[in-house]
Amino acid sequence: MTRVNDSYQHLKAGYLFPEIGRRVRAFSEQHPAATVIRLGIGDVTEPLAPAIVAAMRAAVDELGQRETFRGYGPEQGYDFLLDAIREHDYAARGVTLGRDEIFVSDGGKCDGGNLQELFAPDAKIAVTDPVYPVYVDSNVMAGRGGPVGPDGRHPGLLYLPATAENRFVPAPPTEHADVVYLCSPNNPTGAVATHAQLAAWVAWARANDALLVFDAAYEAYLTDPSLPRSIYEIPGATECAVELRSFSKRAGFTGVRCAFLVVPRGLVGRTSLGQQVSLNAMWARRHTTKFNGASYVVQRGAAAVYTPEGKAETRAQIDFYMENARLLREGLAASGLAVFGGEHAPYLWIATPGGAPSWDFFDRLLAEAHLVGTPGAGFGPSGEGYFRLSAFNSRANVEEAVRRLARMFAAR
Ligand code: MLT
Repeated sequence: MTRVNDSYQHLKAGYLFPEIGRRVRAFSEQHPAATVIRLGIGDVTEPLAPAIVAAMRAAVDELGQRETFRGYGPEQGYDFLLDAIREHDYAARGVTLGRDEIFVSDGGKCDGGNLQELFAPDAKIAVTDPVYPVYVDSNVMAGRGGPVGPDGRHPGLLYLPATAENRFVPAPPTEHADVVYLCSPNNPTGAVATHAQLAAWVAWARANDALLVFDAAYEAYLTDPSLPRSIYEIPGATECAVELRSFSKRAGFTGVRCAFLVVPRGLVGRTSLGQQVSLNAMWARRHTTKFNGASYVVQRGAAAVYTPEGKAETRAQIDFYMENARLLREGLAASGLAVFGGEHAPYLWIATPGGAPSWDFFDRLLAEAHLVGTPGAGFGPSGEGYFRLSAFNSRANVEEAVRRLARMFAAR
């Protein structure tokens, strides 16, 4: 028998969203007449924008002609996409990036999970808590977490609680950490970090030789233009931060798959022998070894997001989801629930009534209102007593969800 990686035994039973799917399937089998509305996993519902579809169609046609056919593309991404990213996402916000600092991939989840390969096996990893589970689980798989303790924490990781007291944006720790994962606008809490808060993190990272992994997958949902969209808007961040971006929520690419990771050339790490190494060179080595590039068709679709039509059409989709978020936020508040987020992010973070355990509230919401959300505990121990609803759905379903919530809480 093959010897296996023991660290997989340290993971909690199943990945969060498949576990939710399993429970919902079981419920639907027992209650076939129930019309279940899913506000659990943050998965887009609106069709691709016409500008994106047209660009992908044209790309397919190119591949169907001998003269314009293409095989393997550059692993890091085609220049047409890298340049669109540099110009529209970064230069427009005063940030200069080179093509070789951007790595196009097939998803932020993969980038976020793969990134930890660059860190020392005994690197101290800090996560905000609650957190997108990929950051915890990928480090646990790599042996940095250890078996979950009675407090629900992997003892090898440093947890930074995001609570109502700190408005769900933790400050830098006093303890040592080599790597900290940050996400703003935040999944799952919907909280957003200000310039001053990110500047404190950058100052801390530089003073402590730490790396920030800044997940900006939801930056397009910021409704206040003065809030930072990129960690690189903070001076000095190119020396201490990588940034994850994705087309999934910004342009409806959850099924199409395209994202990118920024690894600035100025980022250095240290080997066990004290030698300085470039993280950009390490990631380039990893990316070119294990990845053959996102598909040409998909990258043409992603580049279309930056055209005037693509910008207007994807903006309209984001506005649509944010209107859903507003309806949910107001509906939840009117039903007497304490609700956070939903103003700069497509996620609503709700304190469960009476502080009920979040999986109990999940079961109750499913049984009484046929609504699916995500239990806060699934995102980490500090998520206990909270519940996440996603604003990704049709308007009709969101309005119906609000009506069901009102009925459920009026009945109490
Ligand atoms: C979520 O619901 O948290 C996200 O859709 C998960 C993801 O982006 O992988």
